[in-house]
Parts: sequence; C-alpha cells; structure tokens
Amino acid sequence: MYLLTLLVGVLTVTCCSGLYLEGRLFTREDWSFLSRFCFLSDIGRMQFKFVFPYADCCNNILLYFDDGVQWPKVYKNSSKTCHQKEAVLEPENNQIINLTTRYTWSGCVLHNSSGENSGVLVCEGGRSFRSKHERWWYIAISNCKSGQLGKGIDLTYQVKLTNGHSFWTEHFSADEFGILETNLFFLIVFALMLILSIHVAVSLQNRQMLHTTYKMFMVCIALEVFGLLMLCVAIGTYASDGIGNNGLKLIGEILGTSAELLFLLLLLLLGKGFTITRGHLSYAGTIKMSVFITVYAVIDVILFLYEYILFDPGLVLYVYESPAGYGLIGLRLAAWVWFSYGIIFTLKHYPEKNKFYYPLYGIYTIWFYAIPIIVLVATFAIPRYMRRKVVNGLQRCIDFLAYSVFLTLMRPQAANRNFPYHVRTSQIGTVVSVTDGKTHATSNFPHNMY
Ligand SMILES: *[C@@H]1O[C@H](CO)[C@@H](O)[C@H](O)[C@H]1NC(C)=O
Ligand SMILES: *[C@@H]1O[C@H](CO)[C@@H](O)[C@H](O)[C@H]1NC(C)=O
Ligand SMILES: *[C@@H]1O[C@H](CO)[C@@H](O)[C@H](O)[C@H]1NC(C)=O
Repeated sequence: MYLLTLLVGVLTVTCCSGLYLEGRLFTREDWSFLSRFCFLSDIGRMQFKFVFPYADCCNNILLYFDDGVQWPKVYKNSSKTCHQKEAVLEPENNQIINLTTRYTWSGCVLHNSSGENSGVLVCEGGRSFRSKHERWWYIAISNCKSGQLGKGIDLTYQVKLTNGHSFWTEHFSADEFGILETNLFFLIVFALMLILSIHVAVSLQNRQMLHTTYKMFMVCIALEVFGLLMLCVAIGTYASDGIGNNGLKLIGEILGTSAELLFLLLLLLLGKGFTITRGHLSYAGTIKMSVFITVYAVIDVILFLYEYILFDPGLVLYVYESPAGYGLIGLRLAAWVWFSYGIIFTLKHYPEKNKFYYPLYGIYTIWFYAIPIIVLVATFAIPRYMRRKVVNGLQRCIDFLAYSVFLTLMRPQAANRNFPYHVRTSQIGTVVSVTDGKTHATSNFPHNMY
C-alpha cells in the first residue's frame, strides 16, 4: 500500500518542460552535435532559444534525420567540410534554420544594437517534424564562416524536445514509449510474486526445508522489485520534468543486474546439487564459482561504464554492441556449459532427482540463451526506433517466466512431483554416510531420506 501511495505521489507531480537541454555551447569546431530525439510524425515538436553576439552571425540549426544518406554520412566524418555537411540537407524540407533576422522562421530579434555589427541576437522559435514513421532527428549547430576565421561556435541555448502533451509520451523520445508502463506493470507483478514467495517460504519453513538456495531466490525477487521501483521513480520523474534522476536510474539498473547475477549463481549451485544432493561445494568448486561470478560482475560494471560514460549519443548503439557486451554473452554461454555439466554429474549419482532436473534444465537452457538471442534479434531485425522498448519488454517477460517456473518447482505441496529437496535444514552438517562399515562425515546427502 505504501508502495502504491509512493508511486501515485511520484506520478502526479505536475509537468511540464520536455527533453530539456540548456547550456552554453563553446567549441573551436565550426560544426557541433547538440542532441538527438526520436520524434513522432506531426506531433513531435522542438522549441528553442539561442542567444549569441550579432558579430558571430550566423549560426545555423541543422536538422538531420537518421537516413543512411544524412546523419551517418556526416557524423564523425572528418573528410567532410562544414559546407559539405550542410549540403547533405535539403533546404526545401526546412532542415536548415538560419539564425538571422532575414529568415523569419528563426524568430531572431536584434537587441542592444548600437551601430554596425554590434548587439545580441536572440532567436526564439519552434517547429514540428513530419515523416512517414517516427524517426530519429539529430540536431547540430554550424557556423561555417567563423570556422574559416578560426573562431568556432559560442552561443547559449535552451532547447525543449517533446512528443505531444500526454504524461506518457511528452518528454520521451518515441523509441522509449511504453517503457514506463511496462516497468510499472512488472513492478506490480514482481511485488505480488515476492508476496507469494514469502508464502511458499513459510510452508517450506514449517517442513524444515527452507534451504539456502530458496533464500537466494527470494533475495533475487526482492532485488528485482526494488530495482524496478527505483527505475519507475526515476523514469516517472523524467516523465514529469524532462530531466529525471540519473543516479536513481543507475541504482535501479544495478539492482536489476545484481538480481540477474544472483539468479545465475543460484542456477549453477542447483546444477551442482547444492542443498539438494549435497550440503557443501568442494573447496575447488567454491573458488571456481567465486572467480567466475567476480569476472561476470566486473564485465557488468564495464558495460555500465559504456552506457553512462563512454556512450556516444551521436550513434544509436545498443550497449551489447561493444566488446564488453560480447564478453558478457560469451560468459553466459560458458555458464550454460557449466550448468549442463553440473546437472549431468548430479543426475549420474542421484538419478531419482530427474523429475526436478529435467524441467530445470530444459527451461533454464532457454533462459541462458535468451539474452544472446534477444541481442541478435534486436541488432539485426528490430528497427532502431523500436529497439529500446521491445528489448525492455522481452527482458522483463523472461525474468518473470524464470521466476514463475522456479516458484512452481519449489512449492512444497504434495501434488508437486518435481519438488527437489529431501533433506531437512536441521540435518545438514550432521549427515553421515556409512561405507565399509565405518562412519564418516560427508557433504553428500544419502538418497531419499525424506
Ligand atoms: C565521409 O565523407 C566522404 C566525403 O564526402 C564520403 O565519401 C564518405 O562516404 C563519408 N564517410 C562515411 C562513413 O559516410
Ligand atoms: C541559410 O544558410 C545556408 C547555409 O549556410 C545558406 O546556403 C542559405 O542561403 C541561408 N539561407 C538564408 C535565407 O539565409
Ligand atoms: C541589453 O542591455 C541591457 C542593459 O545592459 C541588459 O540588461 C540586457 O540583458 C541586454 N539584452 C540582451 C538580449 O543581451
């Protein structure tokens, strides 16, 4: 209830500004990238205010679209001069806004002029965008003349980019539509699942079957819920002010990634029979597992650095299209091999556990392959302007399925023939096996003690 109150509180914060950018652009270059936005056709709108000395006249606003002949041809292309970069655009489509008093659409007014070549130009205006479907627009500023004089560009700007007036779309680039709704939906679903998992934990506890592996699972869901909560608050704030809260968003993403990593560890441990057929991992096994998880976590951190620091907004790239992304996919496939190996080995010694391990193996094999497949599909088959929302939705669905299946396998009802545990928590550590008439402590559980 508290959670809902909090959410409603966040969502009713009044809006309005936009993807809002302001600042001073100061560069030695004669051409500079400002921002990009995915505009809905007709509804998308840009409002701007530029201020610069009349003596610098004239800066141009250049509006490129993501077509192969426009933006990709000019961005980071040092073999093109300023004039060539302008020539790519079609003036009859109004892709150039000349910031001069002669060009009426620019809304430029000369202030404080006291003679030839003095005063300040203040340009305030707006325009909307029209295209066949939503598409990326890249906004750049050029001043070819001052480039020739070696002066560069120096102006202050306020730019607001919007898609309509609805809370759910206004400040979002069209490729982000629906992400907030999806995340809110899954926040509720995962919160319900957390409650359900506590219910199952209680009945496991009553049977003294509340093992470490199940507790890890509950931590996963809790991390997922809190991560999503942070994300929803961060995106909700963005929806209302166009600025958002990057710190909160980062925390949310880190929590989500931790949940995924913990779940991966949980699967590897179950594959090795931990708490199902044995009470401890071997010493070497523990070391290997720790190293693997550490490497995985480090690569996750590198991926975050890519996203938040090295990421170049002039290129619409997917974080997985990076060496760290490929590394992560490789590690995930390696983890699957390890998982398979563990299960084969466990089943060899405890074939009676096949009712648990067959479904576990089948379903979580799909889980291991899901991310690589999504990355491939997203990279080659989903248009860029839809990628973010589709990938987000798919990932949440996969997490949901993974957790639901786990919960189904672990519920201790008599009807559950897949139930894995047969040793009570109080018996771990006192389990002994008898071989050659001698008794010695072992980490392996006896068969079917339950
Ligand atoms: C960069 O500009 C040159 C000269 O106009 C052009 O031939 C080349 O195709 C451009 N490079 C890219 C990657 O588009
Ligand atoms: C606007 O700027 C472009 C590029 O510098 C130039 O070719 C064009 O003539 C200008 N148009 C007006 C109306 O000043
Ligand atoms: C014009 O000059 C006045 C007085 O110096 C100043 O307050 C104002 O900000 C100037 N206007 C612009 C647009 O710079």
